[in-house]
Amino acid sequence: MTRSELISILSTTDRVQMKELFGQAEAVRDANVGRQVFLRGLIEFSNRCRKNCYYCGIRRGNRQVARYDLTDEAILEAADFAWHNRYGSIVLQSGERQSPRFTQRIARLLEQIKQRTHGGLGITLSCGEQPAEVYREWFEAGAHRYLLRIETTSPALYARLHPDDPLHDFDRRIAALEDLRRIGYLTGTGVMIGLPFQRVEDLADDLLFFHRTQTPMVGMGPYVEHRDTPLYGHRELLLPPRQRLSLALRMVAALRLLMPQINIAATTAMQALHPMGREQAIRAGANVFMPNITPQRVRPGYKLYDNKPCIDENASQCNDCLDFRVRLSGVGIAYDQWGDRTSASPESVARQEL
Ligand code: 5AD
Ligand code: SF4
Ligand code: FES
Repeated sequence: MTRSELISILSTTDRVQMKELFGQAEAVRDANVGRQVFLRGLIEFSNRCRKNCYYCGIRRGNRQVARYDLTDEAILEAADFAWHNRYGSIVLQSGERQSPRFTQRIARLLEQIKQRTHGGLGITLSCGEQPAEVYREWFEAGAHRYLLRIETTSPALYARLHPDDPLHDFDRRIAALEDLRRIGYLTGTGVMIGLPFQRVEDLADDLLFFHRTQTPMVGMGPYVEHRDTPLYGHRELLLPPRQRLSLALRMVAALRLLMPQINIAATTAMQALHPMGREQAIRAGANVFMPNITPQRVRPGYKLYDNKPCIDENASQCNDCLDFRVRLSGVGIAYDQWGDRTSASPESVARQEL
Protein backbone atom coordinates (compact mmCIF):
# COMPACT_ATOMS: atom_id res chain seq x y z
CA MET A 1 0.00 0.00 0.00
CA THR A 2 1.20 3.46 -0.85
CA ARG A 3 1.23 6.46 1.46
CA SER A 4 -1.64 8.05 -0.41
CA GLU A 5 -3.69 4.85 -0.21
CA LEU A 6 -3.11 4.77 3.54
CA ILE A 7 -4.10 8.41 3.85
CA SER A 8 -7.27 7.72 1.94
CA ILE A 9 -8.16 4.73 4.17
CA LEU A 10 -7.50 6.78 7.29
CA SER A 11 -9.62 9.63 6.01
CA THR A 12 -12.70 7.55 5.17
CA THR A 13 -15.74 8.36 7.24
CA ASP A 14 -18.24 6.70 4.94
CA ARG A 15 -20.01 3.95 6.91
CA VAL A 16 -20.20 1.49 4.04
CA GLN A 17 -16.54 1.90 3.19
CA MET A 18 -15.54 1.51 6.82
CA LYS A 19 -17.57 -1.64 7.21
CA GLU A 20 -15.90 -3.04 4.14
CA LEU A 21 -12.46 -2.07 5.47
CA PHE A 22 -13.04 -3.76 8.83
CA GLY A 23 -14.41 -6.86 7.12
CA GLN A 24 -11.32 -7.10 4.93
CA ALA A 25 -9.01 -6.60 7.90
CA GLU A 26 -10.79 -9.38 9.80
CA ALA A 27 -10.52 -11.73 6.86
CA VAL A 28 -6.80 -10.98 6.53
CA ARG A 29 -6.29 -11.57 10.25
CA ASP A 30 -8.24 -14.84 10.18
CA ALA A 31 -6.25 -16.13 7.22
CA ASN A 32 -2.87 -15.16 8.67
CA VAL A 33 -2.95 -15.39 12.45
CA GLY A 34 -6.25 -17.20 12.96
CA ARG A 35 -9.67 -16.11 14.14
CA GLN A 36 -8.49 -15.83 17.72
CA VAL A 37 -6.84 -13.51 20.19
CA PHE A 38 -3.72 -14.11 22.26
CA LEU A 39 -3.78 -13.04 25.87
CA ARG A 40 -1.30 -10.95 27.82
CA GLY A 41 -2.20 -10.38 31.45
CA LEU A 42 -1.23 -6.81 32.23
CA ILE A 43 0.44 -6.07 35.57
CA GLU A 44 0.94 -2.34 36.15
CA PHE A 45 3.39 -2.85 38.96
CA SER A 46 4.50 0.73 39.64
CA ASN A 47 3.49 4.25 38.64
CA ARG A 48 6.80 5.85 39.57
CA CYS A 49 8.24 7.57 36.53
CA ARG A 50 11.19 9.88 35.93
CA LYS A 51 9.68 11.36 32.81
CA ASN A 52 7.34 14.23 32.21
CA CYS A 53 5.51 13.45 28.97
CA TYR A 54 2.92 16.21 28.45
CA TYR A 55 0.06 13.77 27.80
CA CYS A 56 0.46 11.27 30.62
CA GLY A 57 -1.38 11.25 33.94
CA ILE A 58 1.48 9.64 35.88
CA ARG A 59 4.17 12.03 34.66
CA ARG A 60 6.68 13.01 37.30
CA GLY A 61 5.27 16.52 37.56
CA ASN A 62 1.80 15.35 38.57
CA ARG A 63 1.78 15.79 42.34
CA GLN A 64 -1.84 14.63 42.62
CA VAL A 65 -0.84 11.02 42.09
CA ALA A 66 -0.02 8.79 45.05
CA ARG A 67 2.97 6.74 43.95
CA TYR A 68 2.99 2.98 44.47
CA ASP A 69 5.19 0.01 43.96
CA LEU A 70 3.71 -3.46 44.22
CA THR A 71 5.63 -5.84 46.45
CA ASP A 72 7.40 -8.82 44.92
CA GLU A 73 4.76 -11.04 46.50
CA ALA A 74 1.91 -9.12 44.87
CA ILE A 75 3.61 -9.29 41.48
CA LEU A 76 4.25 -13.02 41.79
CA GLU A 77 0.67 -13.54 42.88
CA ALA A 78 -0.57 -11.71 39.80
CA ALA A 79 1.71 -13.82 37.60
CA ASP A 80 0.34 -16.96 39.26
CA PHE A 81 -3.17 -15.74 38.55
CA ALA A 82 -2.32 -15.44 34.86
CA TRP A 83 -0.73 -18.88 34.82
CA HIS A 84 -3.67 -20.56 36.60
CA ASN A 85 -6.13 -18.92 34.27
CA ARG A 86 -4.13 -20.20 31.31
CA TYR A 87 -3.03 -16.85 29.94
CA GLY A 88 0.01 -17.70 27.86
CA SER A 89 1.86 -14.58 28.86
CA ILE A 90 2.03 -11.46 30.98
CA VAL A 91 3.22 -7.90 30.56
CA LEU A 92 5.09 -6.28 33.42
CA GLN A 93 4.59 -2.56 32.96
CA SER A 94 5.73 0.46 34.95
CA GLY A 95 6.79 4.03 34.58
CA GLU A 96 10.37 4.63 33.57
CA ARG A 97 13.02 4.31 36.24
CA GLN A 98 16.72 3.67 36.06
CA SER A 99 18.71 2.35 38.98
CA PRO A 100 20.82 -0.72 39.65
CA ARG A 101 18.35 -1.74 42.36
CA PHE A 102 15.40 -1.53 39.99
CA THR A 103 17.32 -3.49 37.34
CA GLN A 104 18.22 -6.25 39.76
CA ARG A 105 14.78 -6.44 41.22
CA ILE A 106 13.19 -6.94 37.80
CA ALA A 107 15.81 -9.55 36.87
CA ARG A 108 15.08 -11.48 40.06
CA LEU A 109 11.33 -11.31 39.49
CA LEU A 110 11.75 -12.58 35.93
CA GLU A 111 13.72 -15.56 37.20
CA GLN A 112 11.20 -16.29 39.91
CA ILE A 113 8.24 -16.17 37.54
CA LYS A 114 10.04 -18.43 35.09
CA GLN A 115 10.82 -20.85 37.88
CA ARG A 116 7.29 -20.97 39.26
CA THR A 117 5.81 -21.68 35.84
CA HIS A 118 8.54 -24.06 34.64
CA GLY A 119 9.41 -21.63 31.90
CA GLY A 120 5.82 -21.78 30.71
CA LEU A 121 4.63 -18.21 31.09
CA GLY A 122 5.84 -15.79 28.43
CA ILE A 123 7.00 -12.45 29.84
CA THR A 124 6.91 -9.10 28.11
CA LEU A 125 8.47 -6.08 29.76
CA SER A 126 7.36 -2.49 29.35
CA CYS A 127 9.57 -0.36 31.58
CA GLY A 128 10.67 2.40 29.26
CA GLU A 129 14.09 3.34 27.96
CA GLN A 130 17.06 1.63 29.56
CA PRO A 131 20.75 1.23 28.77
CA ALA A 132 21.47 -1.70 26.46
CA GLU A 133 23.18 -3.60 29.32
CA VAL A 134 19.98 -3.46 31.31
CA TYR A 135 17.92 -4.72 28.39
CA ARG A 136 20.46 -7.53 28.01
CA GLU A 137 20.34 -8.49 31.69
CA TRP A 138 16.55 -8.69 31.62
CA PHE A 139 16.59 -10.69 28.39
CA GLU A 140 18.96 -13.18 29.94
CA ALA A 141 16.74 -13.35 33.03
CA GLY A 142 13.78 -14.48 30.93
CA ALA A 143 11.96 -11.59 29.26
CA HIS A 144 11.56 -12.26 25.57
CA ARG A 145 9.38 -9.41 24.40
CA TYR A 146 9.56 -5.69 25.11
CA LEU A 147 7.05 -2.94 24.49
CA LEU A 148 8.30 0.57 23.89
CA ARG A 149 5.99 2.84 22.00
CA ILE A 150 7.58 5.44 19.80
CA GLU A 151 4.40 7.48 20.55
CA THR A 152 4.63 9.26 17.19
CA THR A 153 7.15 8.83 14.40
CA SER A 154 7.06 12.53 13.57
CA PRO A 155 10.09 14.12 15.30
CA ALA A 156 8.36 17.50 15.17
CA LEU A 157 5.23 16.20 16.87
CA TYR A 158 7.31 14.21 19.36
CA ALA A 159 9.02 17.46 20.31
CA ARG A 160 5.67 19.13 21.00
CA LEU A 161 4.55 16.31 23.28
CA HIS A 162 7.65 16.16 25.46
CA PRO A 163 9.94 18.50 27.36
CA ASP A 164 12.99 19.63 25.42
CA ASP A 165 15.71 17.76 27.29
CA PRO A 166 17.91 14.66 26.83
CA LEU A 167 15.49 12.51 28.83
CA HIS A 168 12.81 12.95 26.18
CA ASP A 169 14.84 12.60 23.02
CA PHE A 170 13.29 11.12 19.89
CA ASP A 171 16.55 9.75 18.50
CA ARG A 172 17.36 8.03 21.78
CA ARG A 173 14.01 6.34 21.75
CA ILE A 174 14.61 5.07 18.24
CA ALA A 175 18.05 3.87 19.38
CA ALA A 176 16.46 2.05 22.34
CA LEU A 177 14.17 0.19 19.94
CA GLU A 178 17.20 -0.79 17.89
CA ASP A 179 19.03 -2.01 21.02
CA LEU A 180 16.06 -4.17 21.96
CA ARG A 181 15.90 -5.77 18.58
CA ARG A 182 19.65 -6.35 18.41
CA ILE A 183 19.59 -8.07 21.80
CA GLY A 184 16.97 -10.49 20.56
CA TYR A 185 13.66 -9.28 21.95
CA LEU A 186 10.50 -9.48 19.96
CA THR A 187 9.92 -5.78 20.03
CA GLY A 188 6.60 -4.05 20.11
CA THR A 189 6.06 -0.41 19.48
CA GLY A 190 3.12 1.85 18.80
CA VAL A 191 1.70 5.32 18.70
CA MET A 192 -1.13 7.41 20.05
CA ILE A 193 -3.86 8.35 17.62
CA GLY A 194 -5.80 11.59 17.47
CA LEU A 195 -3.25 13.71 19.33
CA PRO A 196 -3.48 17.48 19.20
CA PHE A 197 -1.41 18.74 16.23
CA GLN A 198 -1.35 15.28 14.61
CA ARG A 199 -2.28 15.04 10.92
CA VAL A 200 -3.45 11.94 9.03
CA GLU A 201 -0.20 12.17 7.07
CA ASP A 202 1.66 11.61 10.35
CA LEU A 203 -0.46 8.54 11.04
CA ALA A 204 0.20 7.13 7.57
CA ASP A 205 3.91 7.65 8.23
CA ASP A 206 3.54 5.80 11.55
CA LEU A 207 2.16 2.80 9.68
CA LEU A 208 4.94 2.97 7.10
CA PHE A 209 7.47 3.09 9.95
CA PHE A 210 6.07 -0.14 11.42
CA HIS A 211 6.31 -1.71 8.00
CA ARG A 212 9.80 -0.44 7.21
CA THR A 213 11.15 -1.67 10.55
CA GLN A 214 9.18 -4.95 10.30
CA THR A 215 7.83 -4.54 13.82
CA PRO A 216 6.34 -7.85 14.99
CA MET A 217 3.95 -6.34 17.55
CA VAL A 218 2.06 -3.06 17.61
CA GLY A 219 0.00 -1.54 20.38
CA MET A 220 -1.68 1.71 19.52
CA GLY A 221 -4.70 3.47 20.84
CA PRO A 222 -6.45 6.80 20.84
CA TYR A 223 -4.98 9.66 22.80
CA VAL A 224 -7.28 10.32 25.75
CA GLU A 225 -6.91 13.56 27.64
CA HIS A 226 -6.00 13.71 31.33
CA ARG A 227 -7.04 16.79 33.23
CA ASP A 228 -3.85 17.14 35.27
CA THR A 229 -1.49 17.27 32.29
CA PRO A 230 -0.19 20.15 30.14
CA LEU A 231 -1.68 18.72 26.94
CA TYR A 232 -5.16 19.06 28.43
CA GLY A 233 -4.94 22.74 27.53
CA HIS A 234 -5.15 21.77 23.85
CA ARG A 235 -8.24 19.59 24.15
CA GLU A 236 -10.21 21.91 21.87
CA LEU A 237 -8.09 20.51 19.02
CA LEU A 238 -9.28 16.94 19.57
CA LEU A 239 -11.74 14.97 17.51
CA PRO A 240 -14.87 14.07 19.50
CA PRO A 241 -14.49 10.68 21.24
CA ARG A 242 -16.45 8.59 18.70
CA GLN A 243 -14.56 10.01 15.76
CA ARG A 244 -11.24 9.61 17.52
CA LEU A 245 -12.03 5.98 18.26
CA SER A 246 -13.11 5.46 14.69
CA LEU A 247 -9.79 6.86 13.46
CA ALA A 248 -7.96 4.49 15.81
CA LEU A 249 -9.99 1.57 14.44
CA ARG A 250 -9.10 2.55 10.88
CA MET A 251 -5.44 2.60 11.92
CA VAL A 252 -5.79 -0.97 13.24
CA ALA A 253 -7.50 -2.14 10.07
CA ALA A 254 -5.01 -0.41 7.77
CA LEU A 255 -2.11 -1.92 9.69
CA ARG A 256 -3.62 -5.38 9.46
CA LEU A 257 -3.84 -5.02 5.68
CA LEU A 258 -0.29 -3.68 5.54
CA MET A 259 1.20 -6.31 7.88
CA PRO A 260 -1.05 -9.39 7.83
CA GLN A 261 1.02 -11.56 10.16
CA ILE A 262 1.89 -9.32 13.08
CA ASN A 263 0.36 -9.07 16.54
CA ILE A 264 -1.88 -6.04 16.97
CA ALA A 265 -3.35 -5.22 20.37
CA ALA A 266 -6.90 -4.14 21.17
CA THR A 267 -5.74 -1.52 23.65
CA THR A 268 -7.39 -0.32 26.84
CA ALA A 269 -7.55 3.30 25.65
CA MET A 270 -10.07 2.18 23.00
CA GLN A 271 -12.37 1.25 25.86
CA ALA A 272 -11.89 4.64 27.51
CA LEU A 273 -13.66 6.22 24.53
CA HIS A 274 -16.40 3.63 24.17
CA PRO A 275 -17.50 0.74 26.44
CA MET A 276 -17.08 -1.66 23.52
CA GLY A 277 -13.95 -0.06 22.11
CA ARG A 278 -11.71 -3.08 22.54
CA GLU A 279 -14.27 -5.40 20.95
CA GLN A 280 -14.47 -3.02 18.02
CA ALA A 281 -10.69 -3.17 17.68
CA ILE A 282 -10.89 -6.96 17.40
CA ARG A 283 -13.55 -6.51 14.76
CA ALA A 284 -11.11 -4.25 12.92
CA GLY A 285 -8.36 -6.86 12.81
CA ALA A 286 -6.62 -6.84 16.23
CA ASN A 287 -5.52 -10.21 17.66
CA VAL A 288 -4.10 -9.47 21.11
CA PHE A 289 -6.18 -8.83 24.23
CA MET A 290 -4.64 -7.66 27.47
CA PRO A 291 -6.80 -8.39 30.52
CA ASN A 292 -5.81 -6.17 33.41
CA ILE A 293 -4.61 -8.34 36.30
CA THR A 294 -3.20 -5.54 38.45
CA PRO A 295 -4.48 -5.81 42.05
CA GLN A 296 -7.49 -3.54 42.45
CA ARG A 297 -6.09 -1.51 45.35
CA VAL A 298 -3.43 0.19 43.22
CA ARG A 299 -5.43 0.61 40.01
CA PRO A 300 -6.57 4.18 40.78
CA GLY A 301 -2.87 5.10 40.79
CA TYR A 302 -2.27 4.04 37.19
CA LYS A 303 -4.47 6.53 35.40
CA LEU A 304 -2.57 7.50 32.29
CA TYR A 305 -5.72 9.23 31.05
CA ASP A 306 -9.23 10.11 32.26
CA ASN A 307 -12.00 7.48 32.14
CA LYS A 308 -9.58 4.57 32.29
CA PRO A 309 -11.79 1.47 32.51
CA CYS A 310 -11.67 -1.30 35.13
CA ILE A 311 -10.35 0.92 37.94
CA ASP A 312 -12.86 -0.49 40.44
CA GLU A 313 -12.57 -4.07 39.26
CA ASN A 314 -10.10 -6.74 40.30
CA ALA A 315 -8.30 -9.38 38.25
CA SER A 316 -11.09 -11.95 38.66
CA GLN A 317 -13.71 -9.52 37.47
CA CYS A 318 -11.69 -8.62 34.39
CA ASN A 319 -11.12 -12.33 33.82
CA ASP A 320 -14.86 -13.04 34.01
CA CYS A 321 -15.43 -10.23 31.60
CA LEU A 322 -12.87 -11.56 29.16
CA ASP A 323 -14.77 -14.53 27.85
CA PHE A 324 -17.86 -12.47 27.32
CA ARG A 325 -16.04 -9.62 25.66
CA VAL A 326 -14.01 -11.72 23.28
CA ARG A 327 -16.97 -13.90 22.39
CA LEU A 328 -18.93 -10.76 21.54
CA SER A 329 -16.23 -10.00 19.01
CA GLY A 330 -16.86 -13.37 17.41
CA VAL A 331 -13.36 -14.78 17.80
CA GLY A 332 -11.78 -17.51 19.91
CA ILE A 333 -9.32 -17.21 22.79
CA ALA A 334 -5.92 -18.85 22.39
CA TYR A 335 -5.21 -20.04 25.93
CA ASP A 336 -1.79 -21.36 26.96
CA GLN A 337 0.05 -19.75 24.09
CA TRP A 338 2.79 -17.20 23.98
CA GLY A 339 1.42 -16.13 20.67
CA ASP A 340 4.61 -15.37 18.80
CA ARG A 341 4.75 -16.57 15.28
CA THR A 342 8.48 -16.32 15.27
CA SER A 343 9.53 -18.31 18.33
CA ALA A 344 8.77 -21.79 19.54
CA SER A 345 6.72 -21.75 22.74
CA PRO A 346 7.54 -24.35 25.35
CA GLU A 347 4.40 -23.65 27.37
CA SER A 348 2.38 -26.72 26.45
CA VAL A 349 5.41 -28.88 27.19
CA ALA A 350 5.75 -27.27 30.60
CA ARG A 351 2.11 -27.95 31.38
CA GLN A 352 2.34 -31.59 30.42
CA GLU A 353 5.20 -31.98 32.85
CA LEU A 354 3.14 -30.63 35.76
N1 5AD B 1 -3.79 8.75 26.24
C1 5AD B 1 -3.55 7.59 25.61
N2 5AD B 1 -2.46 6.85 25.81
C2 5AD B 1 -1.56 7.32 26.70
N3 5AD B 1 -0.38 6.82 27.10
C3 5AD B 1 0.15 7.65 28.01
N4 5AD B 1 -0.68 8.69 28.22
C4 5AD B 1 -1.74 8.52 27.40
C5 5AD B 1 -2.92 9.25 27.14
N5 5AD B 1 -3.17 10.41 27.76
C6 5AD B 1 0.20 5.62 26.52
C7 5AD B 1 1.56 5.92 25.91
C8 5AD B 1 2.49 5.01 26.68
C9 5AD B 1 1.57 3.94 27.17
C10 5AD B 1 2.07 3.18 28.33
O1 5AD B 1 0.40 4.64 27.49
O2 5AD B 1 1.52 5.56 24.54
O3 5AD B 1 3.52 4.48 25.88
FE1 SF4 C 1 6.32 8.03 32.21
FE2 SF4 C 1 5.44 6.52 30.17
FE3 SF4 C 1 3.83 8.33 31.32
FE4 SF4 C 1 5.88 9.16 29.80
S1 SF4 C 1 4.07 7.95 29.10
S2 SF4 C 1 5.31 9.99 31.83
S3 SF4 C 1 7.42 7.62 30.28
S4 SF4 C 1 4.65 6.48 32.28
FE1 FES D 1 -12.23 -5.29 33.45
FE2 FES D 1 -14.61 -5.97 32.21
S1 FES D 1 -12.59 -5.99 31.43
S2 FES D 1 -14.21 -5.43 34.32
